[in-house]
Amino acid sequence: MKLMVINGPNLNMLGIREPEIYGSATYDDLTAMIKAEAEMLGAEVELYQSNHEGELVDIIQSAYGRIDGIVINPAAYTHTSVALLDAVKAVGIPTVEVHISDPDTREDFRRVSYIRSACVATIKGRGFEGYLEAMRLLVNNSRENNG
Ligand code: DQA
Repeated sequence: MKLMVINGPNLNMLGIREPEIYGSATYDDLTAMIKAEAEMLGAEVELYQSNHEGELVDIIQSAYGRIDGIVINPAAYTHTSVALLDAVKAVGIPTVEVHISDPDTREDFRRVSYIRSACVATIKGRGFEGYLEAMRLLVNNSRENNG
């Protein structure tokens, strides 16, 4: 089982950006948690972070034929990007949308998620733990489907 975890713009600033919303732990702390969880699940994991929409599209496309599940926090591109939605649809890989905060309880413009309709689940408002829940969900679904 091979997972890909993708983080969008400004998530490299975790620990610095708006700690009252996103907490004081850093992006490095997040990657350490994800790698530890992957090991526990017996899965391989590739981690990416980009501030650029086109690069995020390239990363999603690079998963085609190689990766069994994608966890993505598209950050601000959640609310704007048809390109990321189309990329997830194009590769046809089970994908879980994750948000550290709960965007549905914040400004109105955060209530729209373009990518959501292409995702098997959305996990929001659970902090960093949400990424781990998403990984477990993908691994369990894959084990159920493949016996
Ligand atoms: C976010 C929520 C988005 O609205 C915001 O633009 C982000 C982070 C989250 O993880 O809570 O950058 O995706």
